Amino acid sequence: MIRPSERAMGIEYAIRDVVIPARELEKKGINVIRLNIGDPGKYDFQPPKHMRDAYCKAIQDGHNYYGTSEGLPETREAIVQREKRKNGVDITSDDVRVTAAVTEALQFIFGALLNPGDNILVPSPSYPPYVGLVKFYGGIANEYLTVEENGWQPDIDDMRKKINERTKAIAVINPNNPTGALYERKTVREILDLAGEYDLPVISDEIYDLMTYEGEHVSPGSLTKDVPVIVMNGMSKVYFATGWRLGYFYYVDPEGKLDEVREAIDKMARIRICPSTPAQFAAVAGLTGPMGYLDEYMGKLKERRDYIYKRLTEIPGISTTKPQGAFYIFPRIEERSKWKNDFEFVMDVLHKAHVLFVHGSGFGYAGDWHFRIVFLPPVETLEAAMNNFEAFMRERLAE
Ligand SMILES: Cc1ncc(COP(=O)(O)O)c(C=O)c1O
Repeated sequence: MIRPSERAMGIEYAIRDVVIPARELEKKGINVIRLNIGDPGKYDFQPPKHMRDAYCKAIQDGHNYYGTSEGLPETREAIVQREKRKNGVDITSDDVRVTAAVTEALQFIFGALLNPGDNILVPSPSYPPYVGLVKFYGGIANEYLTVEENGWQPDIDDMRKKINERTKAIAVINPNNPTGALYERKTVREILDLAGEYDLPVISDEIYDLMTYEGEHVSPGSLTKDVPVIVMNGMSKVYFATGWRLGYFYYVDPEGKLDEVREAIDKMARIRICPSTPAQFAAVAGLTGPMGYLDEYMGKLKERRDYIYKRLTEIPGISTTKPQGAFYIFPRIEERSKWKNDFEFVMDVLHKAHVLFVHGSGFGYAGDWHFRIVFLPPVETLEAAMNNFEAFMRERLAE
């Protein structure tokens, strides 16, 4: 038997891991309502027509070659204009790198920052690849608390306690997956102050930046004076093009503290050649084109958010914080005597109610005794899922 690397075998991804038992049920002919993966394209959301047309046109016009490793000049310029509009940042296209979505940006950034034993502060709960990729690159995911009672805002004191001499950066995911939290301006400022105190860069995941229901997203890139910030974003959520695998990041680094890291990242970018060329043409259309589709889609999402929140508040044995952004809700299991842990709870829901959630502990220790629901599907699907789930809870609690 040829042995795989421990590095690769150690990877866990809760969101997809729960699919294996769901598939077993489906093989037996059972219809499982899957509310586990945050992919808008699986429901009634598509990238806007002007982006789809631009993608097809790029291919027909012969833009099927390798582009430059840092991204096409026109794409980087469109990103600069978009980010100036949204965040008022003072950047040029030299500060921008185009990637195979935010996931590749994370690989570059963690790969370029971490030596074995170094750590990155990541939120708990957080999107699982933060922990997985930090580990993959030999680092330690140093989880800081976000506080449910405070709308899942980061606990700045806990962040401070977790910083040590091997800390290389602070990662912020706002709006957050899985909690749907939107961080207050004051919190963003406090994170920057803390980073400044310890001379750390801030890595800011803004993939859901325009997907907010109440309040507006505040980027640390827009507030920083001297703290280096790496902002990541892409086409997957606000532009509804998950499968195109296109994203970007940029440096807001007025004092050039990240110059060597930039060089390391560029080396990583060169050995993977380039991001998709036609997708970059489509991204230009999205970044510079009309945004009316987003109002329409956010209207649908808000209706779904309000519906699922209302239903969940009526179900006994759980409690729920209302998400302010993204398309996830992260209820807490209050009645705990019937299950050993949140994974067992999610498996019980799957087998009895035929609804697939993701266990909260898969998002880090602060996710214990919670579960994540994706509320992208239409209300009728959410209604069927909530009917099954409510009946399940009432039955279990009566036992
Ligand atoms: C917070 C966060 N960052 C990044 C990603 C992945 O983004 P991409 O498709 O750009 O790799 C996701 C996907 O769900 C996410 O929730």
